[in-house]
Amino acid sequence: MPRTPSEATDVLVVGGGIIGLVTAWRSAQRGLSVAVVDPAPGGGAAQVAAGMLAAVTELHYGEQTLLGLNVASARRYPQFAAELSEASGQDLGYRACGTLAVALDADDRAHLRELHALQQKSGLESEWLSGRDCRRLEPMLAPGVRGGLRVDGDHQIDPRRLASALVTACERAGVTFHRRWAERLHVVRDRACGVVLSGDGGSAPGAALLAADQIVLAAGSHSGRLAGVPDEVVPPVRPVKGQVLRLTVPPGYAPFLSRTVRAVVRGSHLYLVPRVNGELVVGATSEELGWDTTVTAGGVYELLRDAHELVPGITELPLTETCAGLRPGSPDNAPLLGPTALPGLLLATGHHRNGVLLTPVTGDVMAQVLATGELPEEAAAFTPGRFCGRVPGDLSDASLEQPV
Ligand code: GLY
Repeated sequence: MPRTPSEATDVLVVGGGIIGLVTAWRSAQRGLSVAVVDPAPGGGAAQVAAGMLAAVTELHYGEQTLLGLNVASARRYPQFAAELSEASGQDLGYRACGTLAVALDADDRAHLRELHALQQKSGLESEWLSGRDCRRLEPMLAPGVRGGLRVDGDHQIDPRRLASALVTACERAGVTFHRRWAERLHVVRDRACGVVLSGDGGSAPGAALLAADQIVLAAGSHSGRLAGVPDEVVPPVRPVKGQVLRLTVPPGYAPFLSRTVRAVVRGSHLYLVPRVNGELVVGATSEELGWDTTVTAGGVYELLRDAHELVPGITELPLTETCAGLRPGSPDNAPLLGPTALPGLLLATGHHRNGVLLTPVTGDVMAQVLATGELPEEAAAFTPGRFCGRVPGDLSDASLEQPV
């Protein structure tokens, strides 16, 4: 049985990845008492992600609504990064370096031309370059590059630093961390009013109940797995596996790439993100394989093969890390932000490929709705109700699932 509830906090965030942390930080800045439940805050998909802030180069057909939110968040990044850096005393690796998207063959070039047309129709800034001009900008590119798009507004940040800075900023803003698993949502008379924590078998044995006025489910791809959430409001998120490599450009080595370079190679998206400290991130696979996070020979091979086609010199660099993470995919690739049909329960999840990019706007949107009850207009198209709008009925039959 859970121990007696402690005094209720205003906001309890389930999930201490970058989305949960930014929600907690921004809410605490508004004077709310906030707690975060996560066994390892700052972990999750941000430990794998490359950190591209690619509102323009990652535009896809059918995602024009999401584009508005992506662009709004990208615009906030310089100010957000400066503020978070100040609040945490940490450098976030924010780099306004721009992006070059290139084509290696006629099919890739046709694809890129389509993307360029869509970008122009959407009022976005991007410039078509010949293969020669691409190589003038990035001399390490393969001689066969057939053309490309220069997008000076798509930047990058180091997601590991971002996560670490958010943990520190939260601590400094008075956010309480419960380094435990959330076992189940506590619902009383059709209202979410707390979370039962798992016992840790050590200094805090036995399950404990944390009471809160509002609970935010921000557990990334695991957001649909918290027990006790009524079926009607379970977020429809699924894990989408991404394998990523990290290489190192040794000190003193000739400059390798000066900006993010990306391409679609045989239908697969590939990107190379160069950091100031010499790290070169190469990503990413996109695999619908459930909860599997195995790094496979095939995944690493395909990334290296495609990266080598794009930038032949890459094979000389030390391969320093391989890893895999899970994007929280949603049915329309856009996030779920704001209140659910269950009073007291809100969502901040489903950010799929855009979690890092959408961090600033998610923090602002969630803090506003938590502090005032009003969801900002910019989030109106992203409410959970577009997927799970039914008012919950009998809550007593909510099923038990995995801890989150
Ligand atoms: N936004 C890059 C990725 O999801 O792979």
